[in-house]
Amino acid sequence: MLSWDEFDNEEETVAAKPAAAPAAASAAPADKLDNAAEAAVHDARAVSADDSAAVARAKAALDQLDIAEGLSELEGEGARVTVDAKRMINCRADLNQLVPFKYDWAWQKYLDGCANHWMPQEVNMNADIALWKSQDGLTEDERRIVMRNLGFFSTADSLVANNLALAVYRLITNPECRQYILRQAFEEAIHTHAYQYCIESLGMDEGEIFNMYHEVPSVAKKAAWGLKYTRAISDPQFNTGTVETDKELLRNLIAYYCVLEGIFFYCGFTQILSMGRRNKMTGVAEQFQYILRDESMHLNFGIDVINQIKIENPHLWDAELKDEATQMILQGTQLEIEYARDTMPRGVLGMNAAMMEDYLKFIANRRLTQIGLKEEYPGTTNPFPWMSEIMDLKKEKNFFETRVTEYQTGGALAWD
Ligand SMILES: [Fe+2]
Ligand SMILES: [Fe+2]
Repeated sequence: MLSWDEFDNEEETVAAKPAAAPAAASAAPADKLDNAAEAAVHDARAVSADDSAAVARAKAALDQLDIAEGLSELEGEGARVTVDAKRMINCRADLNQLVPFKYDWAWQKYLDGCANHWMPQEVNMNADIALWKSQDGLTEDERRIVMRNLGFFSTADSLVANNLALAVYRLITNPECRQYILRQAFEEAIHTHAYQYCIESLGMDEGEIFNMYHEVPSVAKKAAWGLKYTRAISDPQFNTGTVETDKELLRNLIAYYCVLEGIFFYCGFTQILSMGRRNKMTGVAEQFQYILRDESMHLNFGIDVINQIKIENPHLWDAELKDEATQMILQGTQLEIEYARDTMPRGVLGMNAAMMEDYLKFIANRRLTQIGLKEEYPGTTNPFPWMSEIMDLKKEKNFFETRVTEYQTGGALAWD
């Protein structure tokens, strides 16, 4: 190992080597560079008598910088971007140029998401803690609902975030959509934070809750169903650009936006929000209310992306993929019906598994028609119309009226 003195000597040896001439390759994009600006940079780069060996070495290293290589590693062709060149997938235009916008709806959703920003610590959990710890505050069936849903959701939002960051983001080749995906990914982190905050506040066994997706079949099946679609496109070697791989990306988007976020969340949301409507676990319910509002925007964004890919690539949306998409939504509905039965062995909170089945079929019809497929459960009606009201509420109008008005964003509330 080198001592500090030896290290300095070695540094000087390196600095003393004559700097190579600026790489010829950097001349390649010269037609795009401002020559006057380049001359100013050249003067600033000159090694002066005041420069230490380390500074001289840093300047010499920058003389080796190959701009052409740098630009080619940036995505896209490096020209000024026009709206017409922008595409949802397989785009060749520079993805670092946010404007001009092609998909104004994506940018608007990004702005709306930011306007809805919230943090879990804003919610007062005192009443929930008292109720959860009291002997006769909740029935066994109600406790089961709280446990199962925190178990499912505490990992489900991580699955969604991982799918976005490790698989989808790279393949959606549009900067305004990527901007929204980054916002969504942060919201998923906030949701996982919210579940963790509930679990910690209520003093639950964290190992039991976070490992539920390995231990409870109705939770594990939903997680496994989603993970299979992440696995299909998260290989770094995977790329869109062929009919089969473009379809694979569409399957992933349908799995996550239409099924995971569009169906798998709805039994749990309905159960917890129904609890809040009955003045029980109002803090947990308020967290779920904010999460549901975020999720309905994620869902709408995903539907718009899927439909835009279909418009730009009509050859992908053939009879085979339509049938697959229908099957995926029906499988997801079936898994959620099974989850409803598992979480509600008896009627509870003014609802039961049969009513939830109707609701899930109603939701499934919506998901099918939103991506241009036909309803598979004709005539189903919504037994829980109050759910739509909650989704449309603004943050300021809290459904449960439990929100503390004085809080410190980023800080944690202390519970006695
Ligand atoms: Fe989420
Ligand atoms: Fe989400």
